[in-house]
Amino acid sequence: MLVNAKEMLIKARDGHYAVAQININNLEWTKAVLTTAQELGAPVILGVSEGAGKYMTGFKTVTAMVRAMDESLKITVPIALHLDHGTYDGCKKCVEAGFTSIMFDGSHFKIDENVEKTTELVRLAHDNGLSIEAEVGSIGGEEDGVVGAGEVADVAECQKIAALGIDFLAAGIGNIHGVYPSNWKGLAFDALENIHKGTNEIPLVLHGGTGIPEEMIKKAISLGVSKINVNTECQLTFAAATRKYIEDGGDQKSKGFDPRKLLNPGYEAIKLTCKEKFELFGSIGKA
Ligand code: 13P
Repeated sequence: MLVNAKEMLIKARDGHYAVAQININNLEWTKAVLTTAQELGAPVILGVSEGAGKYMTGFKTVTAMVRAMDESLKITVPIALHLDHGTYDGCKKCVEAGFTSIMFDGSHFKIDENVEKTTELVRLAHDNGLSIEAEVGSIGGEEDGVVGAGEVADVAECQKIAALGIDFLAAGIGNIHGVYPSNWKGLAFDALENIHKGTNEIPLVLHGGTGIPEEMIKKAISLGVSKINVNTECQLTFAAATRKYIEDGGDQKSKGFDPRKLLNPGYEAIKLTCKEKFELFGSIGKA
């Protein structure tokens, strides 16, 4: 059941768990996430970066695929189709294409420009029934060409952006896209606590979900994180399972080169990663 993400995240905040945003890249990814969510009764958010949208030949293709799959797989758990780290133009395109949720990443602008653009996009999103996420501070590392310095968000700036009527807030708290370096300092929990209290407890988003230790994930949820984004981990588990299949000679046995067979170990690996994340985030049975 395709919905916007507002209600599921308020429920998660109040119920002290987090909804997973799993980024998708193609049909196999989408099917793996949707079927796992349905099997486990978990709400889920399908994240689409602008790069992944382009790869899938455009946001309209993505919407058509997700809407059709929602119907053909008889998905009854709440799912949202969400633009990840959207530009101003990308957000407008996703509203037009029929997404149910957008993220405007104005974190690289000066705060006044971030406020101005976010204000406009909040109106556009809400007029069309979409939920909207905004960002303050920045997520370190690189995701699909979006590079961030990893600065910890300023509480006053978070308050300014939260007051614009956004539905959830991504605040940088030392989190990083991709694999964490061995000298990573960990999440800035003091900042998280202050942001949570200072923003009237708006649902908070933790980007860079790959590789954060379990205790940190649990503590972040206890301090107001209601949505956790995972992208790299599915790519790694998909690649490892595919590599193993080929190295074991799977593609050379009884038509094992058929893409439906070749891509199946990776598909199953994504399903397993989703299950592990839903378990850790506490979202199983919360649909
Ligand atoms: P990872 O790739 O580190 O899991 O981060 C995903 C993310 O934050 C998407 O916005």
